[in-house]
Amino acid sequence: MTKIWVAVVAIASFCACDAFKILVVFPFPSKSHGILGEGVVRLLANSGHEVTYITPFPVKNPHPNVTQLDVSDQPPLPEANLTAILNKEQSYSDISKFFKMMTDMNIATILNKNVQTLINDPKQTFDVVVAEWMGNELFAGLAAVFDCPYIWLSTVEPHSFILELIDDTLNPSYNPGIISAAVPPFSFTQRLKELAFHIGSGLIKTFYFNKIDEENYKMLFEEVIRKRGRGAPSFSELRYNTSLVLGNSHVSLGRPTRLPQNYKPVRGYHINPEIKPLPNDLQKLLDNAKNGLIFFSLGSNVKSKYMPENLKRNLLKVFAGLKQTVLWKFEENLPNLPSNVHIVQWAPQPSILAHPNCILFITHGGSLSLTEAVYFAKPIIGVPVLADQFTNVGMAINLGIGLKVDLSYDMADDLKVALGEALSSSSYTAKAKELSLIYHHRPATPAAELVHWVEHVALTRGAPHLRSPAIDVPFYQKLYLDLAAITLIALYILKKLINTLFGAKKNSQKKQKKN
Ligand SMILES: *[C@@H]1O[C@H](CO)[C@@H](O)[C@H](O)[C@H]1NC(C)=O
Repeated sequence: MTKIWVAVVAIASFCACDAFKILVVFPFPSKSHGILGEGVVRLLANSGHEVTYITPFPVKNPHPNVTQLDVSDQPPLPEANLTAILNKEQSYSDISKFFKMMTDMNIATILNKNVQTLINDPKQTFDVVVAEWMGNELFAGLAAVFDCPYIWLSTVEPHSFILELIDDTLNPSYNPGIISAAVPPFSFTQRLKELAFHIGSGLIKTFYFNKIDEENYKMLFEEVIRKRGRGAPSFSELRYNTSLVLGNSHVSLGRPTRLPQNYKPVRGYHINPEIKPLPNDLQKLLDNAKNGLIFFSLGSNVKSKYMPENLKRNLLKVFAGLKQTVLWKFEENLPNLPSNVHIVQWAPQPSILAHPNCILFITHGGSLSLTEAVYFAKPIIGVPVLADQFTNVGMAINLGIGLKVDLSYDMADDLKVALGEALSSSSYTAKAKELSLIYHHRPATPAAELVHWVEHVALTRGAPHLRSPAIDVPFYQKLYLDLAAITLIALYILKKLINTLFGAKKNSQKKQKKN
């Protein structure tokens, strides 16, 4: 009996000390990033941890365990201007622009007065920092301030910039770069392009942006750390001191990339398994959709005011020709809607996709939307608009769960063809079901894994046992350049030696002949 009590007390005290103070940093002012941050915060708070959340999207009544720090005062993101994208004037494929924009945003976040109050409060402590990785490692400075381990949350498939911090870069001959839509196995030209991007972007990051980030780190954090009675670690030491990466990635919708021990793929953690009931009107619409319902949403970044009038009308014409019901998430109510088309300004996407009568999802291919499509086993038509959506859709199409339609002035015609194909073939639904099985068949849910690994890092003070030895090995040693140099020198000396010996012999033979 006493043994049982000892066990109970031991477990209880273990659980009591198990509540950690966690700083969660997601300042990127875009809806989907807010959803990812909110997911981390919800899971950690529900597990009993005390969370401080740096966010541009504070909510009215946060969880009692959550303190929000509002950083919505930063400059807004450039708007996704559909007209400019249609005219191919706006491009998102410039990695330097992305790095520059993220550097500015991360500086603004640290300079925000709420964040300044936090880091300059000497009584404030944390057990671990969880920050979204967006192009630079400046937020590692927060871990240096609070003298605690830190975790990156990477929003996309594993790539060299993030893996380099905990292990090594990926081999570009079979791993597409962060913004590449190429699918291995690569052709010779693709392999060359990947190599060029790998080297080019790596050099820009290492020799340009890392230097800028180092200056910013010194400017923003050195004094703060000194005031806490410690010396600031160097930025390069700090950068390679990442404890763990939580990846918003998974093989069900991505690539089976070789990963280090401290990279944990937790894609889908943001989906709340308790699906909220639909509002009455939508519930009725879906229940009554005898021929199925097609859900059409281009996400939260594309504003309807930029969509050309003609395109709107042509899309409606295509939808009018379908026997299915179409639910279009759009900001404005269009006049003269066909009877099978319904427009909603706000849509509870997971609840719609969860309904058995929802048979197809026309999506911009945001990472979260595709995760939800696979979660609920729905085929897609992808219309990528910006950023990582091209890669996401490329990957989903390659896996066979749908078709792609390019955004253009006459995309209505292309969409009509794609709809005909998607609705007549059962292969896309079958594939979506297959991927959904792979997605769900894991030893633990991604949500449980996320909480587990954050706790693991806090409990073990940075999980040093998971770190790859590769981060301590310099580039030249990995490539055995030192051995190559030694060999070359040895060969050179040998050649000299042979020349001198044999040369000397020949000379003396010549001399003997003359005599
Ligand atoms: C690296 O992280 C560990 C664990 O959080 C910490 O104890 C150590 O001081 C950190 N080192 C540097 C250089 O930041």
